[in-house]
Amino acid sequence: MDASVDVQPAVAPSAQSIAHSRIRELAEMAMAMDGVFKLYFGESSLPTPEYIKRAAQKAMADGFTFYTENAGLPSLRKALARYYSELHGVDLDPAGEIVVTASGVQALHLAIRCVLDPGDEALVLTPAWPNGSANVAMANARAVEVPQPLAGDRYQIDFDALEAAVTPRSRLLIYTSPSNPLGWVATVEEQRRLLEFARKHRLWLMADEVYERLYYAGEKPGKPAASILNLASREDAVIVIQSFSKTYCMTGWRLGWMVMRRDLAARAARLNEFVVSHAPSFTQRAGETALLWGEDEIRKMLAKYRENRDFCLAALAKMPRVTVPKPDGAFYLFPKISGMTDSFDFCKRLLLEAQVGLAPGVAFGAGGEGSVRICYASERPILEQAMARLSLFLQSR
Ligand SMILES: Cc1ncc(COP(=O)(O)O)c(C=O)c1O
Repeated sequence: MDASVDVQPAVAPSAQSIAHSRIRELAEMAMAMDGVFKLYFGESSLPTPEYIKRAAQKAMADGFTFYTENAGLPSLRKALARYYSELHGVDLDPAGEIVVTASGVQALHLAIRCVLDPGDEALVLTPAWPNGSANVAMANARAVEVPQPLAGDRYQIDFDALEAAVTPRSRLLIYTSPSNPLGWVATVEEQRRLLEFARKHRLWLMADEVYERLYYAGEKPGKPAASILNLASREDAVIVIQSFSKTYCMTGWRLGWMVMRRDLAARAARLNEFVVSHAPSFTQRAGETALLWGEDEIRKMLAKYRENRDFCLAALAKMPRVTVPKPDGAFYLFPKISGMTDSFDFCKRLLLEAQVGLAPGVAFGAGGEGSVRICYASERPILEQAMARLSLFLQSR
């Protein structure tokens, strides 16, 4: 072989060290197969509502095909401020405290890049969607995972473990409520304690609230889960990550936003120039329409998800070796399967032998192994067949 091969540049070790998403790994296998019941991604089977699609078409026809501000269209930021005021009673400055992003995951990326330096540490409550920890690694920082223990039928926050995990390099604490994959929803008291903890240790507190509208325990259907913004002052080092994906069935559109302290928002908007510059202009216009007219659709969607959740919970309750707490939010169940120690292998065999695609618990970090994640935002006949096959699969072991 030519000696010059040895001196070819290599992919940077820091990029190579970012672990592949094990949800994707499983999904890639499933995508090469026919007839799979796909419950591995966090995505509704419902398409984007027509009124949102029409708004994007109209925006294009009206000429919204040019660059916008790095922080997003001022009209969308105003619509978001109105949304917070109506939904949470929280007053935000649309020009200074809201940054529109090209998805929730881009919001995570940008915010994490703005608060971590190489070598810093971020505490991450897990099991959690892996992209938070992966983005910490992408910033050449270190994710320190702190598992949420299950006590009785509710996941908790282990504040002693959090205290023990703090070091002089800790800069950030990330939690997700409602949680992916747990469906756990932080109480106001838990949020208060997280905020106190962050203030005491001078950490940024990042609340991933992308599932806030998928909340089943509110006094009224459609009431969001409690936001950290109800407790934080505008001087607090608090970051809220948000997305249109789950609430409006807009996963493919790539539209999200962040709420954050003014100085961080200004910096994030500036850095966005060098990442994607801004979210697509016609998508942003469609987002405004979604915020304005989405409430009826959200309530219909919630009713359907709640039925799906209850159906799956009842089915799982009859299966051997399965324990699963009843979640109050998001669209996931995270059953523990006793005796199962390799969730990736379990999901792979379930996929190949029964054509049911679930996400392996190990993908969600510390505390995830031993469980699988089921996304129930699907059609009822699909869930019925998937549950029947999972039951047979478990009985055959
Ligand atoms: C907890 C959590 N945060 C953020 C996101 C990002 O959503 P998107 O990038 O589609 O806006 C997801 C998507 O699954 C998620 O589960």
